[in-house]
Amino acid sequence: MKFFIDTANLAQIKEANELGVLDGVTTNPSLMAKEGIKGDAAVLEHYVAICNLVNGPVSAEVISTEFKGMVEEGKKLAALHKNIVVKVPMIKDGIKAIKWFTENGIKTNCTLVFSAAQALLAAKAGATMVSPFIGRVDDSNWDGVQLIEQIRLIYDNYDYKTEILAASIRNSMHIVRCAEVGADIATCPLSSIVSLFSHPLTDIGLAKFLEDHKKVNG
Ligand code: E4P
Repeated sequence: MKFFIDTANLAQIKEANELGVLDGVTTNPSLMAKEGIKGDAAVLEHYVAICNLVNGPVSAEVISTEFKGMVEEGKKLAALHKNIVVKVPMIKDGIKAIKWFTENGIKTNCTLVFSAAQALLAAKAGATMVSPFIGRVDDSNWDGVQLIEQIRLIYDNYDYKTEILAASIRNSMHIVRCAEVGADIATCPLSSIVSLFSHPLTDIGLAKFLEDHKKVNG
């Protein structure tokens, strides 16, 4: 399973990358705004800065909601760096744009996916990745992991190559459950990646090993 970090914060991306387990980055307009990145030039510059930190796919989202605008924006984003994956919302024009990008060799991430039906459309259009937002599904009293399971079954039935990128991850158990049901990628906040390391028995066991070593070696 691949791990992506879901942030536009350069320090957090650097920290996750230094752990040695990071495969890519996802951003969205809200995450860019959170970092105070405003204006077209600054946004493009920030994507390049992210690409220079991580050796893997970096999702950069289009703002336009119309086919023509999405294509123009996506071409500009893709030209920034070889790591850029154009993130496109799951709407009619988005699906048309994904089809266009696929035919023109540009990688895509179909975002804001909340149903298996939407994931099926994304795969048919040739999306490189599909992003079911499992945390937001859970927030609406549905089961986000079950959605991943359903999409896995459908993609395997037809051998679709679109990668399932579990998004809107809220905790480390989300990551583990997504791994159990076969998500290809999980995009997570730094806190969820870091909490994968934690187990109280590891801390207790390590303290005992070091204490016993010290008893003999001083
Ligand atoms: C995915 O690419 C999105 O950026 C993200 O996972 C959304 O998560 P949220 O529900 O925590 O905003």
